[in-house]
This record gives sequence, structure tokens and C-alpha cells, in this order.
Amino acid sequence: MDYVFPNGFLWGGASSGPQSEGGSNEGGRVKSEWDYWFEREPERFFDGVGPAVTSDFYHKYKEYIQKMRQAGVTSYRTSIQWSRVIRDCEGTVNEEGVAFYHDVINEMIANGIEPMMCLHHFDLPEYWVKKGGFENRETVFAFAKFAAVCFERFGDRIKYWTTFNEPVIIPETGYLYQRHYPAVCDAKKAAQVGFHVQLASSLAVEEFRKSGCSGKIGIIINLTPTYCENPDKAEDRKAADILDLIFNRSFLDPSVKGEYPKGLTELLKEEGILPVIAEGDLDIIRKNTIDYLGVNYYHPRRAKARTSVYEGPLMPEKYYEPYTFEGQKMNTSRGWEIYEPAIYDIAENIKENYGNLPWYISENGMGIQGEEEFLDENGVVSDDYRIEFIKGHLKYLHKAMEEGCNCFGYHLWAPFDCWSWINAYKNRYGLLRVDIYDNCKITMKKSGTWFKELSDRNGF
Ligand code: BG6
Repeated sequence: MDYVFPNGFLWGGASSGPQSEGGSNEGGRVKSEWDYWFEREPERFFDGVGPAVTSDFYHKYKEYIQKMRQAGVTSYRTSIQWSRVIRDCEGTVNEEGVAFYHDVINEMIANGIEPMMCLHHFDLPEYWVKKGGFENRETVFAFAKFAAVCFERFGDRIKYWTTFNEPVIIPETGYLYQRHYPAVCDAKKAAQVGFHVQLASSLAVEEFRKSGCSGKIGIIINLTPTYCENPDKAEDRKAADILDLIFNRSFLDPSVKGEYPKGLTELLKEEGILPVIAEGDLDIIRKNTIDYLGVNYYHPRRAKARTSVYEGPLMPEKYYEPYTFEGQKMNTSRGWEIYEPAIYDIAENIKENYGNLPWYISENGMGIQGEEEFLDENGVVSDDYRIEFIKGHLKYLHKAMEEGCNCFGYHLWAPFDCWSWINAYKNRYGLLRVDIYDNCKITMKKSGTWFKELSDRNGF
């Protein structure tokens, strides 16, 4: 084997409650923001497929867990849906929802899969959506209470918790780029929502410390390294630095270091969009930093200084222009660049600038449209492109680990095909194929067989 990973390295997969469970109005679950939005604007969702059934994990979790194990998954991160556990703004606990997660966690442990739980994966309950979501400070404190309930009920078996998945997506896509609800473009609100989400995360960390649970708590951040067209040009470097502040450091710094980067505060001030911060908020953020980091990495960002004057509402585009180049490797289904060396750069950044804290790849993966094309004569999806994608990234991770980076695992998005928000089932990510038109029938892809070997041998 050319690439051997340390003993105990976590090989696994990630998904989330809203993207996998379905059973949306069963077991006392109330509506979430996705049910709310789909009811109002179903045309926004690819092929009109909404969040009601997704991959039917709610009913088929035992089968999924067994099949994931057969695909070599030894740790699985999903999320506890707030809307399944808490019924209303008053915080009434839904015991049926709690019982469901108890069963899922126990089933994972019984099958040799380490359960890792996230508390928020873009899924606000409808009762908070109607009150303004994270624009409203009340939602922040309600999240901390929900987190406390989860620590109390499940903290005896969960060793790895995370507060939010990709927190920047909440302001970025809900309040700038309009791919999540409420789909508005308002930079001032985005800044306020972003601050509230960070505060909610820090308060959840505080609850975790109070709970006395023996596990660890972290956050999952999508790190998107920014490369500038000409590193010798100060204007290009500046454009890349601004994007780094907005998209990476806005949650990375307060979560790991307990403080915001000065450049970000100055930028928001210059634009007149500094959020309202109550007395004591920054203290909460300072005192409640995380134990470990989950890094979602899919693609880099390419930036150069603007060559024309920006016109339009305040958006990150004011500060840069994207560039492309000959030979750029693309996943055309998703429109994302594939750039494996960024994994090494992320690892170096964490080592050099964030105290080399423990971290893992919490998501990396390749979504492909029309995978049916790759079905072989035995009905198996021959997804060699996915195997090559994983290998390519692992090579750079391995190099970084040999040079001392503190990475403890690799999770693929996703162990099984799941629902992707407004992209619904357009692109498939799984090691396991899910036929949503045939009762969510689950079959192993070629990559699942390969991943099992990877996980068994601890390398390739
Ligand atoms: C990550 C999210 O951004 O990427 C997942 O944590 C998401 O929820 C995944 O599904 C893949 O992106 P997409 O947009 O193709 O679903």
C-alpha cells in the first residue's frame, strides 16, 4: 500500500437529518423551514422533489446502517432535527422524536459505527421561521436550549458533537445568494444573522461544558481556500484576503480562537453593516471555543481584483471577479472545480494559524447527475470517477499528515444518495445507490466496495 493512515483513523460518511430521514410528519415531528418553503414554492426544487420522503431513513434506518457497515463506514455523522425533538417555541420535548434518535444511535453502536451528531444542518423549525429565524435573538437562545436537551438525552453515547454544519451558508445562501429560505439579498441582515448563528454556536458549547458530558464538541466549517490569479499583484491578493475573511474566517476565528478577525470587523464597519451586539455576547464567544473542527471541502475559490466597477446590491462580488483557466478540472454536474491540493493547504493553514487543533474532513465528495448511465450489466453503478476523486484528495491529506497535521478522519459526503436541498436528487453522492422511484431500494455502488477495502486496510 502506498498510503497508510494511522490506527484509529475514522473512515466514514456524513449526511443530515433533513436530507435523509423523510417521515416528515410522523412521530410528532413538526414542519421545518424546508417543508415550509416547499409548500410555498415547489417550483424552486429540482424535478419538484421536496423534503417529505428524502431517502426514507426514518423507516429504513436499520437497513441503511447495515449497508453502510458493508461499505466500510465505521463512523457516521448525521444531525438531530430540531423539528423532531422540540415541538414549539416553548421548548416542549417530543418524546417520540427522542425515542427515534435513541434507536438510531443504539443501532449504530450495535453495528460498530461511531455515531457523530450535529445539532443544526440548515433546518430551522417552522415555528422559529415564522418569528424571523436567526434574525431574531430569541432563536439563538432557543437553539442553546435545544442543544442542552440533546446533551442530556444522548450525551452518554455521543462522543463527537458539532453545533452547526456550515454556519456561513445560513447568511450566505439565505440572505445573499437566495438558494435557501428566506431567499433575500440583504447584506445587513446577512451580517446580523451570521453573528447570531455564531453566538448560538458558542452558547451551545457553553451548555455542553455545563452538561458534564464526557465527549467533545466542535463545529463543521466549509473551508474554501481562495487562490488569486496573480499572487504577485497586491490587488489580487487583497481580493483573495477579503473573500477569506467573509467565507472562511467569519466562523473559523470566533469558533477556534474566540475572536473575530480585525479585518472583518473593519470591513463590516466601512460598509455600515456591523451587527447589533449585546453586552456580554463577545465574552460568551471568547470563553466558549471548540475542542475540534470538522472541515467540509469541495472546491476552491478563484479570485482576482475587479476590472470593472461593481454595480448592484452589496455582495462579496463587490470585491472580486472570479477567473477560470485552461485545464481547470471541473465536476460539470455540480459546476464545481476539483482541486485536490487544497486539502494540503487547508491542513497547513490549521497547523500554522489555528494551533494545529484536532480536525477531520467532515465532508468531501462528488455529486454526479444521471448516474444511471454508469449502471453495468449487473445493475451496479460503476463510479470509478468517485474512487479517483477520493484517492486524489486522500493523497494530499496523507502528505499533510506525514508533515504533522492533526487530522483524525475522513468522511465522504455521502454514504448513501440523499436529498440535496433545491437540487433535490439531481446529483448523486453516495457509496450506496438509492432508487427514489422504487421504494428507496438501496444497492452498493462500485465505490462502496472499494471504500470497504480502504477502511479495512486503513489505506490504499
Ligand atoms: C454541503 C452540505 O455543502 O454540501 C450538504 O453540508 C450538501 O448539506 C453537500 O448536500 C453537497 O452540496 P449540494 O448542494 O450538491 O447538495
